[in-house]
Amino acid sequence: MTLRSRFGKEMDDLAKGYTASIPFDRRLYEYDIAGSIAHARMLAKQGIISDRDAELIIMGLTSIREEIEQDRFEFKKELEDIHMNIEVRLIAKVGDPGAKLHTARSRNDQVALDMRLFTKDAIAETLRRLKALQKALLDQAQENKKVIMPGYTHLQRAQPILLAHHVLAYFEMFQRDVERFKNCLERTDVLPLGSGALAGVSYDIDRDFLAKELGFSKVSANSLDAVSDRDFVIEYQAAASLAMMHLSRLAEEITLWSSAEFGFIEIDDAFASGSSIMPQKKNPDVAELARAKTGRVYGHLMAFLTTMKALPLSYNRDMQEDKEGLFDSVDTLLSTLEVFAAMIACLRVKSDRMRQAVEQDYTLATDIADYLVRKGIPFREAHTIVGKLVRYASELGRSLTEIELSEYRRFCAEFDNDVKSITVESSLAARGSSGGTAPEEVEKALAAAKKKLNG
Ligand code: ARG
Repeated sequence: MTLRSRFGKEMDDLAKGYTASIPFDRRLYEYDIAGSIAHARMLAKQGIISDRDAELIIMGLTSIREEIEQDRFEFKKELEDIHMNIEVRLIAKVGDPGAKLHTARSRNDQVALDMRLFTKDAIAETLRRLKALQKALLDQAQENKKVIMPGYTHLQRAQPILLAHHVLAYFEMFQRDVERFKNCLERTDVLPLGSGALAGVSYDIDRDFLAKELGFSKVSANSLDAVSDRDFVIEYQAAASLAMMHLSRLAEEITLWSSAEFGFIEIDDAFASGSSIMPQKKNPDVAELARAKTGRVYGHLMAFLTTMKALPLSYNRDMQEDKEGLFDSVDTLLSTLEVFAAMIACLRVKSDRMRQAVEQDYTLATDIADYLVRKGIPFREAHTIVGKLVRYASELGRSLTEIELSEYRRFCAEFDNDVKSITVESSLAARGSSGGTAPEEVEKALAAAKKKLNG
């Protein structure tokens, strides 16, 4: 079979190589075959081809799937793409009936279908892995419910928080990712098949039947849009970029926290790498690579947004460039989610070090200012007083607990003995505003997270 009867010569080898997508779109084979089987069934149901022809086509396609899965299929570059490779093989296997499969169909609606089927599966797997990561985070939060650490702003110790509160912040980020991917699924879940090359088809087809067979909940409304819409690819990549951004932040904290300077956590040996020269090294390579791989996912998003920019309607060959970037984004996100869930499940928390870091610094300064506010001093004034107090203590190299009441009083007469009862624990307990780090609130947040995970 050739698509070149109107040409006077063969395509140049260089042009063939340049335009072929088979090196990468072979990955779509199972979706292409599923789409073709549904299409053949529909054609037979509508009396466009005979039942016998449909049967032979389906048998042929089923055995081609086996050939591909058993690595017996010979992919040919000169056949350009996965669609032609399968169709040509089908005709070689079953003869004439195979040549009827492409009735009422174009590669333009065919490839749009394949990409949507692929993306729907990718979203389902992404959701599964996001939830597995959320579960690993929740388990760590639950297990270390009592662990206290300094919370940071500007990477400077700020106020005491529960480690669980910090971990649940990541749970929330990934929850937004879950919602984004679910939302993206709604617009991916639209059947483009039956749009033909661009204008619809001149046969009495049944698109609702196709949608049902292929598990789509909607049928596209406009044939031009259906063959030229790749918003769903961009949406997946945008959602993947955000998810990778979240993973990169987590990666950064794992990297920092496992350094000797922090010493807050220890990565399990099974997830750490050694150095080729320094025998003592234990490196957080998984986290570092996740941090790095975020770049390529952002890159694919920008690349394909740019590919689609200013494309006239409807299908243009430019759109073939949707594939490698999407495939790589899916692979990168899925593998990062998977390895993170496993690595986090066995992270060891060094609660002593975290506690030490809270005690060592001036993380109770806000509580001391709040104490003065309760004694009737305006907050801005209290802020100034405690600022001076911290400066005094730090110049002496002492912590606030090591300062005597008489010294406190030099800064403000309102200080009383009870200022000494401000502790890390009382600081935590005081932050009972909804969504705060008070143990009670965190307990509620843990329960809510569990519900979200199972919901
Ligand atoms: N390989 C092509 C793609 O990925 C398939 C559709 C080709 N359609 C066409 N009219 N040449 O977009």
